[in-house]
Amino acid sequence: MLCPASADVVRATLPAVRDHAVEITGVFYPALFAAHPELLDLFNQGNQANGQQRAALASAVATFAEHLLDPGAAPFAPIAERIAHKHVSLGIRAEQYPIVGRHLMAAVGTVLGDAVTPEVAAAWDEVYWLLACELIAAEARLYERGGIEPVTLWRRWRVAKRQDEAVDAVSFTLVPDDGGPVPDFTPGQYVSVAVDLPGGHRQPRQYSLSQGPARGSLRITVRRLRGLDGSPDGAVSNHLHDHVHADDILLVGPPAGENTLAAGTGPVLLVSGGIGITPTAAMLDHIARTDPTRRVVVAHAERCADRHALRAEIDHLAAGLTDADVLTWYETGDGGLPGLMDVDAVPLPEDVTAHLCGPLPFMRHVRDGLVRRGVPADRIHYEVFGPGMIDGPLG
Ligand SMILES: Cc1cc2nc3c(=O)[nH]c(=O)nc-3n(C[C@H](O)[C@H](O)[C@H](O)COP(=O)(O)OP(=O)(O)OC[C@H]3O[C@@H](n4cnc5c(N)ncnc54)[C@H](O)[C@@H]3O)c2cc1C
Ligand code: HEM
Repeated sequence: MLCPASADVVRATLPAVRDHAVEITGVFYPALFAAHPELLDLFNQGNQANGQQRAALASAVATFAEHLLDPGAAPFAPIAERIAHKHVSLGIRAEQYPIVGRHLMAAVGTVLGDAVTPEVAAAWDEVYWLLACELIAAEARLYERGGIEPVTLWRRWRVAKRQDEAVDAVSFTLVPDDGGPVPDFTPGQYVSVAVDLPGGHRQPRQYSLSQGPARGSLRITVRRLRGLDGSPDGAVSNHLHDHVHADDILLVGPPAGENTLAAGTGPVLLVSGGIGITPTAAMLDHIARTDPTRRVVVAHAERCADRHALRAEIDHLAAGLTDADVLTWYETGDGGLPGLMDVDAVPLPEDVTAHLCGPLPFMRHVRDGLVRRGVPADRIHYEVFGPGMIDGPLG
């Protein structure tokens, strides 16, 4: 909790900090990388270039400050959980927090200038450290639970199989190159994969595991990101498509991620758009192996049939369940329901839990439709394939 004097200062300065938050994080990151160039290889430089990470950090700090002032009005637990899992997938360590804190506070001073009196600086330093302590504790619990040492987190995995799944989508099945065990995970989780790009930069990206656990391997399915309207092609997805083949080695972090298949035996709705089908595939695989009588509805939307990754596999898995529906929409209408997904046409079993994954506007559309049809918001879970949350500044 903030001390009363700091709470007054934070309440008075929060509007200014919120108004300038993206400007502050825009000053923060270049200064951080100038002082610590080794961190360039840890941060996703695509998210730096398109501004998404700046916005996610700014939103997280401002929302945490609001939460400290009024815990009921601004719940922070889901945001902290998301950040902690992402940090753990990348091996972020407690001793890196003072570095980030120092540069973040310096950026606040640079942007807000004379408004940052010693009292203001002390109050926001208190906010930063309350947040840092919460994250460090959550990350320590995750490291301990997974038996992970952050410094030795990246393991070498060999590509046992590379398989084309659809236009611009390819799967890589990975086995440990060090002879160690394949870690257990919960369907819906992802791994960070780091590749060495031309020019000498190492870059990590997250990929959802696209098959269930206990298969003796991990599988990811990657869509090639093509640059649109003058933006460049995606660095890592294109590198994986163009340069990584069977028997090559990839550096992979531990499974992480909080948006996992609802426990229990209740009905589930798995909704995906585009390459957001990957967690659906893992969840369905797991249900087919462990609980084939569970009621499952799968609803997928895609631009056209030849971009629909993992379709045959999902149809096969669903055919092995006693009570499953699979619905597919193609904008082009070729071989599926025509147009965009019609949420009203999706069968909704009573007490269903929904898992959504796909582009943000698509997920918002589906979530609104489900809420309108009576699914409680806390039974609708979603994964965002980028920094931030469904209601964050990125939408
Ligand atoms: C939890 C999670 C799970 C994920 N699961 C999957 C999955 O299962 N399958 C999958 O395919 N993807 C998945 N992703 C997405 C994946 O992590 C990558 O974001 C994706 O592969 C694109 O990475 P990239 O390096 O190819 O693109 P990047 O190089 O990171 O580019 C990303 C975007 O930024 C733009 N950009 C880059 N540089 C600039 C610039 N200088 N100026 C303007 N714009 C720029 C690019 O044009 C592009 O639109 C997941 C992401 C998360 C967070
Ligand atoms: C209180 C301090 C911190 C806060 C509030 C914070 C917040 C965040 C947020 C909001 C994200 C995006 C999560 C998402 O994907 O939705 C993130 C990702 C990340 N954080 Fe932190 N973070 C903090 C400290 C640190 C530290 C100490 C490091 C280590 C140098 C670090 C490194 C990273 C990296 C590498 C990513 C992934 C970036 C990307 O993929 O673009 N963070 N953090």
